[in-house]
Amino acid sequence: MGISIVITSGKGGTGKTSVLCGVASCLAAMNYRVLCLDMDIGLRNLDMVLGMTDRVLMDFSDVIYQRCSLLDAVVEHPQIKNLYLLTAPVSARASHIDRIDVMTLLGQIKREFDFCLIDSPAGIDAGFELACAGADRAIVVSTTEPSSLRDAQQAVNQLRSRRIPIHLVVNKMSKKLLRKLHTTIDDAMDTAGLPLLGIIPQDDKIPVYNGLGQPVILKERRGAAVAYYNIARRLLGQRVPLHRF
Ligand SMILES: Nc1ncnc2c1ncn2[C@@H]1O[C@H](COP(=O)(O)OP(=O)(O)O)[C@@H](O)[C@H]1O
Ligand SMILES: [Mg+2]
Repeated sequence: MGISIVITSGKGGTGKTSVLCGVASCLAAMNYRVLCLDMDIGLRNLDMVLGMTDRVLMDFSDVIYQRCSLLDAVVEHPQIKNLYLLTAPVSARASHIDRIDVMTLLGQIKREFDFCLIDSPAGIDAGFELACAGADRAIVVSTTEPSSLRDAQQAVNQLRSRRIPIHLVVNKMSKKLLRKLHTTIDDAMDTAGLPLLGIIPQDDKIPVYNGLGQPVILKERRGAAVAYYNIARRLLGQRVPLHRF
């Protein structure tokens, strides 16, 4: 039985989708069967960042409403074996989708895949609730900006009632902030009230690779790519020291 992990944040633009793609590609490269599930209904873009837009025909609502089977709806990544995508409907409304249906879908997914990484929309309303519905654990992605940390805290407050493990990933960490790493990270952990799963540096190559739809781990062995790999290893229970930049 696989495990489902929601990647969420509260605030938009913190890097949820990028972190999901990076970590999912690393897990797949380590031979785990990984499904990336886009739950950012209406504003989906996981297919673009993964470079799979032209392959996507069906979405998760087609599986929920039994218009096709799970394995017919998922699409495999053209370059990374074991990496699959199930996209979100563009025209549906989160408030119209039943969370029980999502939980049933995740049950099905976990029988077929080792990991299901769920991309959550920004905010903490219906879309967020749906994305978290069937998650076994959660990763909250925040930058060190106060507004991002405050929104992360809001997301954590909502997640607490679910009694699932929640971890913090600090993204877009600047070199300047890294010099005072301990205070910054301690502050971030205190504000969000969470244990830390990883720190990802500000890496100007990420927007470039995202725009090209190229998973960064295929091309880079430094910067954010290393941080994604370390997070994947920690998810597998390996002890990896916090990356030194
Ligand atoms: N580590 C990083 N360094 C620099 N830019 C990043 C990093 N992570 C994400 N980005 C950029 O930040 C923007 C928002 O990222 P995205 O993953 O779409 O966030 P979200 O899914 O939370 O809205 C994108 O332009 C992306 O390329
Ligand atoms: Mg996103």
